[in-house]
Amino acid sequence: MTGDGAPGRDGGVDVPCVRVPREEGEEMRQRLAERGALSGDYEIEVEDGTIYIPIEETAAIAIADDEAFEVVYRTPAPRETQTLPSDFLGFEPSYERLGDIAIVDEDDEATAREIAAAIVESDLPVETVVNRASPIEGDLRVRRWDVLVGQDTETIHREYGCEFELDIARVYFSPRLATERRRVVEQVEPDERFFDMFAGVGPFVVPAAGRGAECVGVDLNEAAIEYLRRNAERNGVADRVTAIHGDVREVDGYDDWADRIVMNLPHSADEFLDTAVRLADERCVLHYYDIQGADDPFGPGEEAIRAAAEPRYDVEVTTRREVRSYAPHELNVCLDVVLTRRG
Ligand SMILES: C[S@@+](CC[C@H](N)C(=O)[O-])C[C@H]1O[C@@H](n2cnc3c(N)ncnc32)[C@H](O)[C@@H]1O
Repeated sequence: MTGDGAPGRDGGVDVPCVRVPREEGEEMRQRLAERGALSGDYEIEVEDGTIYIPIEETAAIAIADDEAFEVVYRTPAPRETQTLPSDFLGFEPSYERLGDIAIVDEDDEATAREIAAAIVESDLPVETVVNRASPIEGDLRVRRWDVLVGQDTETIHREYGCEFELDIARVYFSPRLATERRRVVEQVEPDERFFDMFAGVGPFVVPAAGRGAECVGVDLNEAAIEYLRRNAERNGVADRVTAIHGDVREVDGYDDWADRIVMNLPHSADEFLDTAVRLADERCVLHYYDIQGADDPFGPGEEAIRAAAEPRYDVEVTTRREVRSYAPHELNVCLDVVLTRRG
């Protein structure tokens, strides 16, 4: 690395930038934004299929030893024209982006409307602004929204080179899980049999199929399954994706089938472990999501998996991962587990 805000080539200033392939640019920008690492003073640059995202010098030091970030020094153009919501508000609002939808989370309606107006006024490519109107509810895990600006709650979200069409009023989707999904998908081998028991619009299934796996995705929500089919087509993997609408406990024809199973229904996945064991082949990797108290986030999940799988299978927990904090003293976690059938 070179420079520390010193003059660079062409009389510009050397600025630390995170380098990523173009298709990973938006996901990386969001990750850096979540860490407060982005520099608002310089333009993001694209060159030969690679994106360079300017970051703060302090952030560059903080992530210097983290292999997930490649930092290089460049002389990007100073940002002169782009306005951000904070330019109008005088404070940094909290919001999430999902395609061309901005999602705010404000209890006070007047503040929510003020933020929405500033987002639309800014140069962000946003068409619709919504505020959370309910928690995630019911079996289908869908939230209600107050639409503050625009009308269309359907959008196209890009994540690690895949495109996902979805309607936030009809299906579950969380852009915050992108890094976790990437972690799982990177383990997928070509030709393996991949079964997502709670597939939603396909954020695990579609990239897994992209790696050459034969994929089955099941969901109780008919709208999610419609989007999953469309997303498989949109991303050119429809020939490797079977999308099934229904209760996964009632799906026939896949006993002893799966090399890998994803169970992302964190509040009640334990109720579906008998089904997971029925679907598992002789050796099967299980990605089991759970929400538990921070004092013992992994114990209850491991106990439930052992109760369902033993003695038919040997159970080896290979990864215990904190995905994110869910509520005060509650964690969303993932256990990666290898099930190996005995004798
Ligand atoms: C937390 S979401 C996860 C969706 C997707 N895996 C993702 O990461 O975006 C859980 C999904 O499970 C579905 N679901 C709930 N109960 C189900 C059941 N008995 N059988 C199949 N799907 C179910 C819901 O409709 C919802 O789409």
